[in-house]
Parts: sequence; structure tokens; C-alpha cells
Amino acid sequence: MCGITGYVGDGVALDGTDGGTDDDSGARVGDFVHEGLRNLEYRGYDSAGIALVGASSGLTVAKRSGEVANLAVPDVADATLGVGHTRWSTHGPPTDANAHPHTDCDGDVAVVHNGIVENYAALKADLSAHEFTSDTDTEVIPHLIEEELAERSGAGDLLDAVRAVEDRLEGSYAICAVREGADRIVVARRGSPLVLGRGADATFVASDVTAFLEHTRDVTYLEDGDVASLSADGVEVYADGDLVDRETETVTWEADAAEKGGYDHYMRKEIHEQPESLRQTIAGRLDVDRGEVDLDVSFPPGFLADLEEIQIVACGTSNYAGQYAARLFEELSGVRATVDIASEYEFGAGRSPDRTLVVAVTQSGETADTLGAVRRANAAGARTFAVTNTLGSTVTREVDDTAFIRAGPEIGVAATKTFASQVATLAMLAVSIGRERGALAAADVRPVLEGLRDLPGAVQQVLDNENRVREAATEYGDSEAFFFVGRKLGVPVALEGALKLKEISYDHAEGFAAGELKHGPLALVTPDTPVLALLTEGGRADETMNNVTEAQTRGAPAIGCVSAGDEYGTLDVSLPVPDVGVAEPLVANVYLQLFAYHVANDKGRSIDKPRNLAKSVTVE
Ligand code: AGP
Repeated sequence: MCGITGYVGDGVALDGTDGGTDDDSGARVGDFVHEGLRNLEYRGYDSAGIALVGASSGLTVAKRSGEVANLAVPDVADATLGVGHTRWSTHGPPTDANAHPHTDCDGDVAVVHNGIVENYAALKADLSAHEFTSDTDTEVIPHLIEEELAERSGAGDLLDAVRAVEDRLEGSYAICAVREGADRIVVARRGSPLVLGRGADATFVASDVTAFLEHTRDVTYLEDGDVASLSADGVEVYADGDLVDRETETVTWEADAAEKGGYDHYMRKEIHEQPESLRQTIAGRLDVDRGEVDLDVSFPPGFLADLEEIQIVACGTSNYAGQYAARLFEELSGVRATVDIASEYEFGAGRSPDRTLVVAVTQSGETADTLGAVRRANAAGARTFAVTNTLGSTVTREVDDTAFIRAGPEIGVAATKTFASQVATLAMLAVSIGRERGALAAADVRPVLEGLRDLPGAVQQVLDNENRVREAATEYGDSEAFFFVGRKLGVPVALEGALKLKEISYDHAEGFAAGELKHGPLALVTPDTPVLALLTEGGRADETMNNVTEAQTRGAPAIGCVSAGDEYGTLDVSLPVPDVGVAEPLVANVYLQLFAYHVANDKGRSIDKPRNLAKSVTVE
């Protein structure tokens, strides 16, 4: 997830706060772009860059690694338009060279991009005559535009060129393109957000309205497939080649809410970002038809064939993601998989280090307990692998291989979108290992890959049902305690659901394997202890429901996340989960996140910064 923004106009803020047109108007174009980037930094802060176009000074690009504050606005007194980018790295480390904007061979065209161009390797191969200066997927775009413009003898319109290039891009993207000598910004969106800010003599564009809200509240949200040409006088939006009308609406959020995308808390915003973050997680990595996964990782020859054990080490939510994945590793790769709480990890006697893969799961990449476990595994001579969200984090420097979950920055202390992306990434790793070991035929793996492919849409369906969960949270939120139960893949989700609730609501919540209820916890069950159950595919729904009934017999209300099409008539609340096979418990988890959020919100808790907790725990 990166942030992109742009401004075209007379350098006067739309509310007139910066005065009339004077000699500084060009300088203010750069300032507007820079300000937009500062407001978008929550989307990424690995590097920042700006491209400005001046009436006679041409195209000027400034970019560097690090936060937006480190980037000086280029001094272009006659600038009339500009675009900017703040990066959350996915392809290539956070270096100056990989910072956006990226340009064509002659430095006439500059592009900023949010998303992933899945077919960039093939496109780059087609562009072998061009000079590339970065490791990014993005850089193919300005070179493709250059080719399109050349085909039009250099005189073609930037809009036509971008439209032609768009047809060749696969994946998710929002882009802004500028060209020396052109008086407009051309933007396109597919799968990544893009919104326009409208004014009489200026137009803004950004990944979200936060970028320019201080200057205009009149906005137009672009739709997937839209390509638009922005000038100081207005915008033209095209869909399928036709000029279309897109509604302009007025944003009423205050600045604080706008930073959170209109939500009251980052946590809720991040819960709602999951369709987008999951799309990024899987982008370019799944080949459903061939039953293949490409995580861009290669193990030494023979390592996977000889592999005897996968040891997952992680803490908290990442540990529960590991527990979900362990079951998939065993089923899909045929290798024994264990999960350790990182602070409890020892490389056990009797294990063969050279036949063991130790997988550290850590959102931050900085958790001291997890790093300690990685160091113990390295010292024992095992091969180590990180699944993390954070490029350049300590864990990436200490392991042999890394797969990034690409969820974008997570600000709420309670992990939400990163759990979903961790499980999806680990599931892809399980498929990849299973396929490379020859343990799985393409046909066997297809349902799993289809489930992963359909995850973003399934999560969106759950988010669309938020009102039902909110009502349940209001009805049961004041209970004495909450129990979460599931079987198989439902167990780690039950544990995660309980952790989420206790973290942010401070209520007593516990997760159990449903079958264990009768071995002790049932003594705690009363009419004042709701039971939340995972009744989905991959979670032995009928057996779980038997255990739920045991709790209901003792008076407990029951809330169930139920596979679409199934019905358990005795549930007090039934929440439908779309059919995505073994990914269903992961989708159901979104209901549990929303339940925790609304219970905590009704109680006025400090949701984004719960008491006593920190986002990254760097002490043992
Ligand atoms: C989850 O909501 C918590 N914030 C916490 O359990 C977290 O998952 C744990 O501290 C591990 O962090 P990491 O993924 O950054 O290693």
C-alpha cells in the first residue's frame, strides 16, 4: 500500500487561503504535493518523491528513501502541476533508486503508482531496449507510455498513451502520469483507490481525501477501469473509452476522522482495508489454472525433498496465524509442522537441523521474542524463513529467506489486516512447498488457490454485514465473559477472536477447542457468557455445533459464523460466511474483529492504543 497524490492548478488553495496568484504560485504547486504526501504517510514511509512540470522548466523529479520530511520540494518557480508518492515497498528495497516517481528513458514522462503490476517481468522483457534504473514493477509503466507516445510520433496525447498502456497491465494499480510540456495529469485506477478533489481553478488527486481535505471537500471517487485527464479547469473521466459522468460529493469528515478514512479508529479502518490488503498479498503470486504459487523464494536443491519438520515461531496474533498455517502445512506439504510461542522456543534434541525449516511469523519483524527464537534456530544450524510485513526489518536480515505479506502499514495496536495477510501468505507457502515436494497434484491444490483468489470478495461480503455484528455486540457486549470455540482451523481463529476482544475491550474472553469445553471450561458457562462459534468449512461445523448446544443447554447465548447455505436454527445470531473452502475460518475472523471492535467502542475504550500494550514488543 503506497500513497499517491497530484495537483494541477494555479498554486492557489481552493479555499483561497494562500492568497492570489503571485510569483510564488509555482512554488506552492510543489508545496501542495508535499503536504498531500505528509497526509498520506500512514500508507507507507519507505521513500518519498515528487515530479513537477513547469511551463518552461520542463519535468523535474526529486526522490529519496526515508520519510516525506526528508524530501525537499524541488525549486520550480513556474510549476503548474505535480505528482507525488510515499512508498510501502513491495518490489525492491527502500532505496533512492526504487523511490517513485519513475521516468522513461528521456526523462520526459514520470509516473507514480500504488498497487502491483503482476505481469511486470514479461513487460520488462518486451522493453529490453529501454534503460531501467530500479527494481520496481512500476518502472515498466513510464517506458510503456514512452513507446506509445513514440508510436504516435511523439506528438500523441498522454491520455491516449495511458489508455493504451492500461490495456497491457495486469494486477491492481492506481497511477498518475505527467509529461514534460503537457498541461494535465492523467490518472487510471484498477483495484487501488483514487479520488479527485475538485475546485474552480485547480484539481487534486490522491489515494484518499486526507491528502487534500484542507483545500477542498468536493470529491469524485473514480471507479475501477476509469482513466481521467485532470487539468486546472476540470476533469474528463473515461470508462471503456467513453466519456462518463462521475458524481461529485461533499466530504463532511473532520480532519482527524479523515486521517482514518472517515472511521473513528484506525482499527476499524484497517478491518475494512482487508479486501485491498489481501488483494495485494496475493497479487501476482497465484496461478490457479496451473495450481502454482510464486513467492519469489528458492530453496537449495534437495532441501524441500528432504524436509522433515516445519517449526513455526511467533507471538500473539502472529502465533495464531502460525497455528492456522501449521494445519495447512501438514495437509498440503505432507511435512510435520509444529508451532511454538517464540519465547518458549528451543531447538529440540533429536531434530535434524539440516532437515528443518523454522518459519518466523512477525508483522513488525522486530519482536524480540521472535528474533530470539530465530537466533536459536540459526545457532542450531536450521534454515530460517520470515513471513513479515516490514521490509528492512531486523528479522529479514537474520533469516535465509523472506516472504512479505504486503498488508501495508498497520497503526492500530490490535493486529487485524496483517493476520489475514499472514495466513494467506503462509497458505501460499504451504502450497508452494507441497507442489515442489511433489506431494500435491495441481488438481488437489486448485480449490485452495480458488479460495485464496476469492478471499478479498468474501471478506467484502462480511464487511457489508457489519450492522448485524454491531447489533450482536450491543445486545451481548455487557456480558460477564465471552467464550470462542472452533475445531481444526476454527481453533486458532477462536483463540484470535478472544485475544482481539480482551485486548481492546478489557473483557474476560477465552478461546477453546470446542471439544475441550466439556473437559472443564463448561463450568464457567452461564446465561451471561455468550459463546461465539466457528461453524465453517475447515472447522468440523457439525461437531462444533454439538459443543455449542452443550453450552446453550446451560443457558449461554450462541453466536455462530456459519458457512453460507448451512443453517443451525438454534443459534441466537447466525452470521453467513461465503464459500471459500479452507479460507472460511479466516473470513469468519472478520466478524470476530468487528464484534470485538463494537463491544470495545460501545464501552468507550482506547481502541487504537489499548492500555498496557505496544504495537511492537522489542523487549524479551
Ligand atoms: C495482536 O493484536 C497484538 N498486537 C500482538 O499479539 C502481536 O501480534 C504480537 O506482539 C506479535 O507481533 P509481531 O507480529 O509484530 O511479531
